Amino acid sequence: MTAATTPTGGWPVAIAGLGARLPDRVVTNDDLAEVLDTSDEWIRTRTGIRERHVAAPEEATSDLATAAARDALRDAGLAATDLAAVIVATTSPDHQVAATAPLVASALGVTAPAFDLNAACSGFVYALRVASGMVATGDGAVLVIGAETLTRIADPEDRSTAVLFGDGAGAVVLVPDDDARLGPFSLGADGEGASMLWTPSGGTRRPFDAEVLADRSHYLSMRGGDVYRNAVVRMADSAREVLAQAGLEVADVDLLVGHQANVRILDAVAARLGLPTELSHISVDRHGNTSAASIPLALADARAQGKLRDGATVLLAAFGAGLTWGACLLTWKDR
Ligand code: UT7
Repeated sequence: MTAATTPTGGWPVAIAGLGARLPDRVVTNDDLAEVLDTSDEWIRTRTGIRERHVAAPEEATSDLATAAARDALRDAGLAATDLAAVIVATTSPDHQVAATAPLVASALGVTAPAFDLNAACSGFVYALRVASGMVATGDGAVLVIGAETLTRIADPEDRSTAVLFGDGAGAVVLVPDDDARLGPFSLGADGEGASMLWTPSGGTRRPFDAEVLADRSHYLSMRGGDVYRNAVVRMADSAREVLAQAGLEVADVDLLVGHQANVRILDAVAARLGLPTELSHISVDRHGNTSAASIPLALADARAQGKLRDGATVLLAAFGAGLTWGACLLTWKDR
């Protein structure tokens, strides 16, 4: 298991602003049942998902990311020129080359350093870890965005994946703050499990060609049951680890904001931790699985529902392709 990488109490870093962008178009389970051999009942009982937002044809990941970023900057009362860096966590970038973050920074009107981070559904927690270190060591304010247009990389003809995913973006602005804490973090990865959830072709291992197009292996493929079992164990274990590092108990957690892939996974993680399910925020029912965007979108959703009170101890936990996983704690501060 990975050693602790942050001070026991985490970094003196606060979320100064939180923003979100969900595409306007909502696709319900019944809408999907019109084009796929599936049903609202199957999707709801297996995943908890009722509907998801789907990007318009002209919208790509950077558009969603930019809108969420503007929202977060407005919330923070900061200008884009105040940013020391822009990090976009995504596994569905606009292009294979170049990265999405520079497009976002440019749309915001700045030339601050900007880079993508790909840890799939764990990407936002990974990016918080990178950004918190930058903020705490003197860089200044860092914008962290989780943004995805997953419906573009899932096979619309494969019912086992097409029903799961949604599009969207969430963003936070991190600033130095001696009265706040972000962390500790526990992150991990296991590339041996990569084929459980990946796009088999279209990269340098097997470049895109007519054969790939015919066998549809440029789309996401997932062994759902294996991913499910790993997700429950890894999310619960890394959550326990950050609590132990921080010297806290499960009873000290005010809200769990887990990666929103499946309500059953989130319930199983809460049960393993001994955390009441009411303290686990659920937005997957309305968002579907938005990978790196799911946690910041869930945070924004939790705030809109009045669940983020000043001083609250919030536990984040994620699991995704790679395989990757991670958890961290944060103290919510009203500003
Ligand atoms: O974000 C990264 C992390 N991702 C996840 O955490 C996803 C983890 N996995 C899961 O959430 C679940 O494994 C799924 C929701 C993907 C699948 O649920 P499951 O209970 O594991 O179902 P299953 O894959 O075992 O499939 C059960 C049956 C199969 O039929 P047979 O073989 O039993 O006849 C599937 O063909 O359900 C069938 N099925 C469907 N039926 C109707 C699969 N997809 C669908 C569908 N509609 N959309």
